[in-house]
Amino acid sequence: MIFKMLKPSLFVVVACSLVLFSLAAGGFAQTPGTGQGDILIADFEGEDYGDWTAEGDAFGKGPARGTLPGQMPVSGFLGQGLVNSFFNGDGTTGKLTSPQFKIERKYINFLIGGGGHTDLTCINLLVDGKKVRSTTGPNLQGGGTEALDWDAWEVGEFRGQEARIEIVDAEKGGWGHINIDQIYQSDSKLALDDAARDFKIEKQFLHLPVKKGCRKVWLQVLLDGKFQQEFEIELADSNDVDFFATLEVERWKGKTITLKAERLPGGEKPLEKIVASDNYSDEPNLYKEKLRPQFHFSPLRGWTNDPNGMMYYDGEYHLFFQHNPFSVDWGNMSWGHAVSKDMLHWKELPDALLPDKLGTIFSGSGVVDKNNTSGFQIGKEKPLVVFYTSAGACVRPRVPYTQSIAYSNDRGRTWTKYEGNPVIPHIEGGNRDPKVFWYEPSKVWVMALYLDREDYALFSSKNLKNWEKICDITKLGCSECPDMFELAVDGDPNNKKWVFWGGDGNYLIGSFDGKTFQKELGPFRSKYGGNDYAAQTFSDIPEKDGRRIQIAWMQGGEYPGMPFNQQMSVPRVLTLRTTKSGVRLFMEPIEEVRGLSKGSVEGDAVQSGSESNIGLIGFKGDTIPMVGLCDLDLEFDTAAIPVGDRPAESFGVQLCGRRIEYNLAKKEISLDGIKAPLELDGGKLSLRILTDRTSIELFANGGIVQIAKCFVPADDQPDQPIKTFSNGGTVELQWELRMPRSVWK
Ligand code: FRU
Repeated sequence: MIFKMLKPSLFVVVACSLVLFSLAAGGFAQTPGTGQGDILIADFEGEDYGDWTAEGDAFGKGPARGTLPGQMPVSGFLGQGLVNSFFNGDGTTGKLTSPQFKIERKYINFLIGGGGHTDLTCINLLVDGKKVRSTTGPNLQGGGTEALDWDAWEVGEFRGQEARIEIVDAEKGGWGHINIDQIYQSDSKLALDDAARDFKIEKQFLHLPVKKGCRKVWLQVLLDGKFQQEFEIELADSNDVDFFATLEVERWKGKTITLKAERLPGGEKPLEKIVASDNYSDEPNLYKEKLRPQFHFSPLRGWTNDPNGMMYYDGEYHLFFQHNPFSVDWGNMSWGHAVSKDMLHWKELPDALLPDKLGTIFSGSGVVDKNNTSGFQIGKEKPLVVFYTSAGACVRPRVPYTQSIAYSNDRGRTWTKYEGNPVIPHIEGGNRDPKVFWYEPSKVWVMALYLDREDYALFSSKNLKNWEKICDITKLGCSECPDMFELAVDGDPNNKKWVFWGGDGNYLIGSFDGKTFQKELGPFRSKYGGNDYAAQTFSDIPEKDGRRIQIAWMQGGEYPGMPFNQQMSVPRVLTLRTTKSGVRLFMEPIEEVRGLSKGSVEGDAVQSGSESNIGLIGFKGDTIPMVGLCDLDLEFDTAAIPVGDRPAESFGVQLCGRRIEYNLAKKEISLDGIKAPLELDGGKLSLRILTDRTSIELFANGGIVQIAKCFVPADDQPDQPIKTFSNGGTVELQWELRMPRSVWK
């Protein structure tokens, strides 16, 4: 039976399945727990739980037969049945208690999987009614695996005593279930082992081999035996790796740290594959990778989602970002950090904030505390202060989401977490994503915070440490990642309005007096399509610049085979302008983007039916960084067509295999099928289109409509013509084409 279970994993991920293989090869000809001298406590093969007592609704009427509805595939259990508290999903809770038994062997072995919540999703050993051992499943974060693995308790000291086992599911949120099978007493231990390796730190980085599909292990960094850092990683044990993740170790230079891997598959020695270096792995190829965006920010290594902590200080723009340094998937959320002088050429710095006992580091914002209201300043530089969510749900033991702060006195190069964290306790649900700004008339700081469902709230503070709730904001029609800022309508400084913004780009227009946000208009949509999310604007842009500049996460693109995943949008300027329907928000790429191109090619045409080429986007060219890059202005005019011509019914442009089309009857623009309502402006449609290796951003009629789309370019594309077209008649056309240069050269 065990080999039936092993084969698929041996074939699929050879390097990673050694554990079970070696355990199996370790000598059991029969099912573990049935060997000579072993005492089976439960194998959960029956129709019901027999003499075990079930409480609550998490465990169903009897053992599950494998995977339950809505669950990722469960593997690694023995026989047909197992305890699986995913009965009716994660929301159910309960307890399963064994009858009393006598401890007669040195170990109790069991298979375990599911949630990793201390005391909440666990199996416990009770002796004399007291909990003496407790083990959780492995998973806390999104993703993870439903595979069960062996674990064991050493129980020799309790020999001869009466005991019970209880299986607990008291967690309703993510990974709120526990899976258990094949509990038995034995004199041999059947568990995954911890492993450790010491490193004398002389270099900047340790390169950790990562391979998708390998068992995720928790890796701890210890200094003199003291906890420093902890993260989950799919550590590869062979030379077949996807990429090398970078563990920044410079802060421990000259000292010896220990890397401790928990529950490593038997026989695997991935810690031996870790190497020290002063360079990134594959350094000559950095930013030249096939799918690397060339004028959009993406992390050197690992995963990113939301932009965070965006601020300007003394000649530098700071972009922090949700970062998983150890995988190309979401998890281990930390704040990556990059700086730039023009918001386009970025230099990535070491991660600024790493998870701690309050949690992983979720999204938030940053400000320059010019007047040192926080008292954090120690030298000449103004303190930079960042606000983030301590996402306690992803640490062991679990704590609720709270809001924390950290500060820097050296231009953002090093960060200190405030010792009084969290500065805002848990309020409700997954409250998160603090965005802070200065409100000059009352000389207070204001924080917009997402609470739960579609609810947000504002808080205020005099010193960035003590916060008081001032108002609620509801009915935005989206959740997460708020932003709030004031803009002059049509550039008129005497007519300013406040914008309240949510994660999916819905916004309200209203007024704000330092205490209450009064909605006047909205919610409206600022953007269309699913590849633009969690946008945030820079704080502290100098007054003489005066722009409100935003960057979004280009959510959801694919970057197969790359050592990184996801990218940011191009920085864009937000303005409020009066339209026929009232005041609306517009967004356009920052002017600096034009400066990336050396020159331009322009032209005009009468587009009448079919297609015409207006240029080429290099795909097979020898200058690889140019692949797929283009910055195009197009203006279609339906009013100025030659006398007697029939006006076009629809028209548009095709580039990089993407089709952009305007339909006059429907008053609708579309990009690859993503549709947005749009009126022509005096009979005209103006389009600004930016394409990078894996993305296209469209700004229509001054940016009242924005659509972003990510794509994977086909392999070996020939140079691609940019083709304009019209259907059913004529449209006048003017165009200007620029070719941006890579920002990484
Ligand atoms: C939005 C979001 C935030 C959260 C962060 C976690 O994409 O879910 O609400 O802080 O991502 O990575």
